Amino acid sequence: MKYHVKYPAISLAGIGSTQFWSGNTTTAEKCLYEAIDTYGVTLVDTAEMYANGRCERIVGKVLQSFSKEQYYLLGKADPRKVQVQGLRKSLLTSLENLKEEYFDLYLLHWREDVDLVSFVRDAEELKKEGYIKEWGVSNFDMHDMQDLLSIPEGKNCFCNQILYNLMTRGPEYDLIPYLREHDIMPMAYSSLGSSFVSNKPVKNNRTIQRICHDNNITPEALMLSFVTRDQDFPALFSTSSMEHLRSNLSFDHFDISKYMDEIDREFPSPTHAVPLEKL
Ligand SMILES: NC(=O)c1ccc[n+]([C@@H]2O[C@H](COP(=O)([O-])OP(=O)(O)OC[C@H]3O[C@@H](n4cnc5c(N)ncnc54)[C@H](OP(=O)(O)O)[C@@H]3O)[C@@H](O)[C@H]2O)c1
Repeated sequence: MKYHVKYPAISLAGIGSTQFWSGNTTTAEKCLYEAIDTYGVTLVDTAEMYANGRCERIVGKVLQSFSKEQYYLLGKADPRKVQVQGLRKSLLTSLENLKEEYFDLYLLHWREDVDLVSFVRDAEELKKEGYIKEWGVSNFDMHDMQDLLSIPEGKNCFCNQILYNLMTRGPEYDLIPYLREHDIMPMAYSSLGSSFVSNKPVKNNRTIQRICHDNNITPEALMLSFVTRDQDFPALFSTSSMEHLRSNLSFDHFDISKYMDEIDREFPSPTHAVPLEKL
């Protein structure tokens, strides 16, 4: 497994938790277990709002089999709850669901109408108390990041988790360069397009098909290679299929760099600012 060039505790592929939302999750749980145990994935993403704590409880159950050094746990606070009950209550409820003592990284899931000054103050306090190692945000566009960084301790923001994949390259124009300039780690969710948006445009593309054929990889593995190509940008995906897990994680052995010119021609980088898309 490849790890973040600056933060070796963070694997470049991360497993999400929306696959635990409902139904029988036995295979999905095995996938998360295998991802950590066999493939060395460390990054695990979950959130307070995913099925009202159900996903956190399942993630927590799987993580019980591992020692803390084997995973990097990321949680997200629901801003609608934060506005009513405060960040601390959200955090403690999530840790209770997970049966964990702290988050490696804790994000505000989206901005809603959360007062950023209070959010930063509370996040800094929880960090001092050891409940979180780092804090950050998710779904923050350029103007949201500018507002955040205008707050003195806002510069301590560690990460912005955004919708980014080969079909959604908008953030490349300004947001991703802005994050890198301010030493804030970008992280992609729905790196494969999500279960709501078909990734057929990638799968059906002749150039992509040829590259995949020549390198014996799937379009999904190529999509993960795309997001992680600079080794400073983790890519989250979810799966309930052991076969998909295996083939997705083979992205690790593929060097996309020599194909980037061709890929850019098929799926161009934006030439103007595009509002951040969200799921
Ligand atoms: N911050 C936010 O607002 C936000 C928003 C959305 C998601 N997230 C996080 O990001 C994680 C990943 O995003 P996501 O679940 O939306 O999208 P995703 O990982 O892009 O897509 C998941 C879908 O891809 C399918 N899939 C995976 N590998 C495949 C393969 N090799 N071939 C064919 N289909 C494949 C999965 O089905 P199978 O089960 O059949 O493999 C599932 O339907 C989430 O679980 C969540 O933790 C965060």
